[in-house]
Amino acid sequence: MKPAIIPQPRKITYTGGISRANALSEIKISHSSEIPSEGYRLTLKNDIFHIICSDDAGEYYARNTVKQIVSTCGCVCPDLEIYDFPAFAYRGLSLDCARHIFEISDIKKLIDAAALCKMNVFHWHLTDDQGWRIPIDGYPLLTQTGSRRKKSNFRGLKEDGEYCGFYQKDEIREIVGYCAKRHIEVIPEAEMPGHTTAILASYPEFGCTGKEIKVQTKEGIFDTVLCLGNEKIYDLIFAILDEICELFPGRYIHIGGDETPRTEWKKCEKCAKKAEELGITDLDAFQGQFIKSVAAYLRSKGKTAITWNESLKGGQLEPGDVMVQYWMGNKEYTDDFMSKGGRIIQSDFFHYYCDYPLAMTPLKKTYDFEPEKTGKKADSVYGIEAEMWTEFINTFEGICEKYIPRLQIIAERAWCSDDAPGFDSFMKRFERLRALTEQCGVKIPASEKLKINPLLRIPKIIEFFAGVPDFNTIKNSIFNSK
Ligand code: ACM
Ligand code: ZN
Repeated sequence: MKPAIIPQPRKITYTGGISRANALSEIKISHSSEIPSEGYRLTLKNDIFHIICSDDAGEYYARNTVKQIVSTCGCVCPDLEIYDFPAFAYRGLSLDCARHIFEISDIKKLIDAAALCKMNVFHWHLTDDQGWRIPIDGYPLLTQTGSRRKKSNFRGLKEDGEYCGFYQKDEIREIVGYCAKRHIEVIPEAEMPGHTTAILASYPEFGCTGKEIKVQTKEGIFDTVLCLGNEKIYDLIFAILDEICELFPGRYIHIGGDETPRTEWKKCEKCAKKAEELGITDLDAFQGQFIKSVAAYLRSKGKTAITWNESLKGGQLEPGDVMVQYWMGNKEYTDDFMSKGGRIIQSDFFHYYCDYPLAMTPLKKTYDFEPEKTGKKADSVYGIEAEMWTEFINTFEGICEKYIPRLQIIAERAWCSDDAPGFDSFMKRFERLRALTEQCGVKIPASEKLKINPLLRIPKIIEFFAGVPDFNTIKNSIFNSK
C-alpha cells in the first residue's frame, strides 16, 4: 500500500521495488546546498532510507515523513523517491492561553501534532482582557493581579470562584526549547493598545481614566485600553518587551493592535494633547503611530513586530515597520500594504479560525481556501496560520476537538499551497494517520463528527451564537461595520 503523508509531498515517484520500512530501518543522511531551505530528497530502496537535505530543518521534516511512511505502510512499502519543500516560509498555529490557560504538558502535545505536519511557528497569545499569563519582574502586579479573575461567564461557560494562573519563566523557556528542537519558532503575543484590561486592573494609572477596574470575566471588546497620552506608557511597554525579548529568542514579537475602541481616547485630555503634539487628528493614525513607535523599539532590539491588520487603517505603518497578520475586514489597507512590498500572515477569520463550529467553517471550506491568491505580489503572503481562541473552550480536549484536523489541513495548505491534492485525498490520508497523530497525545473526534449535514449548518450556527451577550459586537466585527 502507498504511504499516507501530511502534508502531501510536492513530488513523489514510486520506483518499482518493495522495501521493509520500520522504526529500525537504516536512515542515511547527506547534505546538498541544491536542496531548498527546509526541503529534502528522500529515497527508499533496498530497505534503506536516504535523506539529502541542506539544513537541519530539512532533515527533521524528512524524518517526519519517514515516520508517516513507516506508520502507514507497515513493513511492506513501495520503493520511492520524494522531493519536498515548503511553499510558505511561515506555517503557524496559535493558542490563546489568556482567556484560558493550558498545561505545559498539553501545549507540548499540540506542538508535537503541529511538528508532525511540518508547521514551524507557535504563536502564543499570553495577554488579554481576561488574564495576563507571563511574569514581568519589573511590573509584578501584572501576574499578581492581572492573572486573576472572579467567577467567569463566557456565554454560559461558567467558572465558579476565582480563575487564575500564569506560566513561570522556566516553563516558558521549556516551551521555547521544546519547540526549537522541533524547528518551531515561538512568537509571543502581548496585546496593546487594546485588550488590556488585565494591565489596567494591575496598574490603573496607565488607563485614560485612572479608575480601578477588574480583570474581565466574559468575552468581548472592552473600552479599557491604554492611555496613549501618558508618556509613562512607553516605560511600561518597553520594560515588558525587554523581558519578553529575553525569554523569546525568535525573530518576531506580536504586539496585538486589534479591536481597540476609541471611546476613552476621545474623552481624554492627555490623549488629545498627545495627538495635537503629533499633529494627528484621526484616532486610527493615533493607534498607528503608537504601533509604529513600539515596532521601532523592537527593531532596535533586532526583532520584527507583528500586528493585526486593524493597525494599518491610520496609514502610518510602512512595510519596513511591521509584519501584518490579517484576520478580518479593511482588506483595502492590507492590499495597499502588500502592494508597497509589505508581508502578511494570512489567518482569514472565515477559513482559519478554528475555534468556531464545523457548521460555520466545515473542513472542506478551510481546505479549499487559497491563501496564495490573497497576496498582491509574489511574496506578500509570507505565511499562513491556524487560530485557536479560547473564550469558549477551557479544556485541552475541547481544543483538540476543534483544532484537529483543521491544524493538519492548514499545515498542508501552508506546505503545498496550490499544489495541494484536494480535500478528499487529504481526508483519506488523515484517517490513515489518525493513530500516529493520536500518539502525540491529542484526541481526534470520531470520523462521523467531522462530517456536517448541510441542512443543519444554519441551525447549528444560530445555536452557537444565540445567547452571546455581545452578539452585536461579533456581528459588527464580522460585517466590518465597527
Ligand atoms: C482577533 O481575532 N481579534 C485578532
Ligand atoms: Zn488617554
